[in-house]
Amino acid sequence: MRTPSEIAEITPKSAYQNRRQFMAAAAATAGVAAFAGERFLRPEQAVEAATKLTTAKSQLSLQGVEPTAYKDITSYNNFYEFGTAKSDPSENAQHFKTYPWNVKVSGLVKQPKTFSIDQLLKLRPQEERIYRFRCVEGWSMVVPWAGYSLSEFIKECDPLPSAKFVQFLTLNDPSQMPGMREANIGWPYSEGLRMDEAMHPLTLLTFGIYGETLPNQDGAPVRLIVPWKYGFKSAKSIAQVKFLDKMPHTTWNDLAANEYGFYSNVNPEVDHPRWSQKTERVIGAPIWKQRQPTLMFNGYADQVASLYKGMDLRKNY
Ligand code: MTE
Repeated sequence: MRTPSEIAEITPKSAYQNRRQFMAAAAATAGVAAFAGERFLRPEQAVEAATKLTTAKSQLSLQGVEPTAYKDITSYNNFYEFGTAKSDPSENAQHFKTYPWNVKVSGLVKQPKTFSIDQLLKLRPQEERIYRFRCVEGWSMVVPWAGYSLSEFIKECDPLPSAKFVQFLTLNDPSQMPGMREANIGWPYSEGLRMDEAMHPLTLLTFGIYGETLPNQDGAPVRLIVPWKYGFKSAKSIAQVKFLDKMPHTTWNDLAANEYGFYSNVNPEVDHPRWSQKTERVIGAPIWKQRQPTLMFNGYADQVASLYKGMDLRKNY
């Protein structure tokens, strides 16, 4: 069994100091073994093969940057519904059923709607967007995502003018997600954006990587990518979208509000209470290039800094 400090880096101290949650998180390790056995009891759950996506190049992609290897993007993951170790999601999500899939839209909209994944895939042409991706834990990748701007989807949702925030909820299915049964972190995973952040063209409704549909461990069949924010803002395997007039509760903020704010914009000047955010470890880089300086708004300051004009980013971390 792992010690508290060995439980994935993102787990806040307050969570593992709480005995009930620590016991649940520690049990996740044992839970993985139990699930591996259970997998064989479910032959009806075929592994979905990756499907090619036709993507157009985008002006919003990074230029002249080598993307992280597919192997690293798909084996070094955070997806606590499938366990807390980096290798857990790729091992435990293989039989996760991502088809059929629906995304339910509710809250402050003209009319609640449900979109099937087939509708969503075809809603707009898919683009390849090569973005920097920075996790709050201090590592980074460059990922060639496939998708279209979330704003295009939001237009189809017809939100009311009173909608000021959007909430994204991951599928809530402990029967398929062993991590949910073991670690009690207040499921389903919830994240949110202010409406203007959600409407920003960089914010991507994401269906693929490297020109193929997302592997399960990366959040199939549809996830969010907000490239100027820490990775935990980018909810995976989205099943519900809610338009709200108030800031939604968000999973990591619920667990440790002093460590994970609602905004969570990448900011080398505002350290995490337990580690520096000035530099980052580049996943898959050769040893002599393993650390690099972290950029304000993850390098997207020119595009997004205006969203936060007049805000104290130390208070609104
Ligand atoms: N979404 C859900 N539902 N559950 C999670 O545990 N982890 C977040 C985010 N989205 C997470 C999630 C964190 S901390 C990060 S860094 C990214 O997913 C990781 O995405 P990746 O595994 O594709 O790199």
